[in-house]
Amino acid sequence: MIKASRIGHATFETPDLDRAISYYTEVNGLVLNAKDRCRAFLASKTGLLTIALEHGGAANLRRIAFEVSPHADLADVAKKLTDAGVNCGMRGDAVPSIAKMVTFDDPTGTTIELFTEWNYLGSHHQVLGAGPLKLGHVARVVDDPKATAEFYCRILGFRVSDWIEDYFVFLRCNPDHHTINFIRGSKPNMHHLAFEMKDFAHIQDACELLALRKMPINWGPVRHGPGHNVAIYHRNSDDQNVEFYIELDQMKDEALGYFDPRPWHHDTPQRPKVWDRRSSPNLWGPLPTPDFLR
Ligand SMILES: [Fe+2]
Repeated sequence: MIKASRIGHATFETPDLDRAISYYTEVNGLVLNAKDRCRAFLASKTGLLTIALEHGGAANLRRIAFEVSPHADLADVAKKLTDAGVNCGMRGDAVPSIAKMVTFDDPTGTTIELFTEWNYLGSHHQVLGAGPLKLGHVARVVDDPKATAEFYCRILGFRVSDWIEDYFVFLRCNPDHHTINFIRGSKPNMHHLAFEMKDFAHIQDACELLALRKMPINWGPVRHGPGHNVAIYHRNSDDQNVEFYIELDQMKDEALGYFDPRPWHHDTPQRPKVWDRRSSPNLWGPLPTPDFLR
């Protein structure tokens, strides 16, 4: 089986490339690595390719890249996909830092890119904005979260961390509680994009930055149920919800089957489970504002 190990970068179409670049550099705190008339590539302060932007008609998630084992041969990955009934292709030099990727569409039509070898895009960058550590997860609205989750588990080796009833599923591909999640909805789209921060002081700095820029925090600070992350949310220049989070649950040993114990866990030990709708949004903190939910 192919095993996704890490989320790499997400590619978005944006109707206003310059405005999106301003958001990602001045507010989010990424570094512009390369840009031409219709594309831009942004790296984290650690030099990880994090966001790719393409000029287009509407704000949309287009592609998500995952790193697979460095020992995997991409031709073999492509063969495994084909054997599993998934049409795939090979892309070369599509983005800075990754020479070759295997690409295919998931059942929702979002393109998945798999890569093995990559390079840092510089390191120790000074950033203007919040400056997250990494892209942490992408949450999406899909019409059938169960079928979508089964595809990611079967094809890419994801594991189910939690469900909220039967409408919201959280999937992990490494110790992080979730790297991708799917919520049921009638209009498939991105639900939110999440970036990991260093600690609560880093989240507080982001709150101050957002306030100075008059960008409302539309949910949080809050500690969620599933994943137990402390989070704040705001909308980016393309009106997409963006999360900054810390303290996401960690499944450090798959064989143990529980998340690393934390004092805020109500279950002892905290194992993957089905949460109810009422208790899952937060263990503390406010409920989402209408602006988050719209
Ligand atoms: Fe999230």
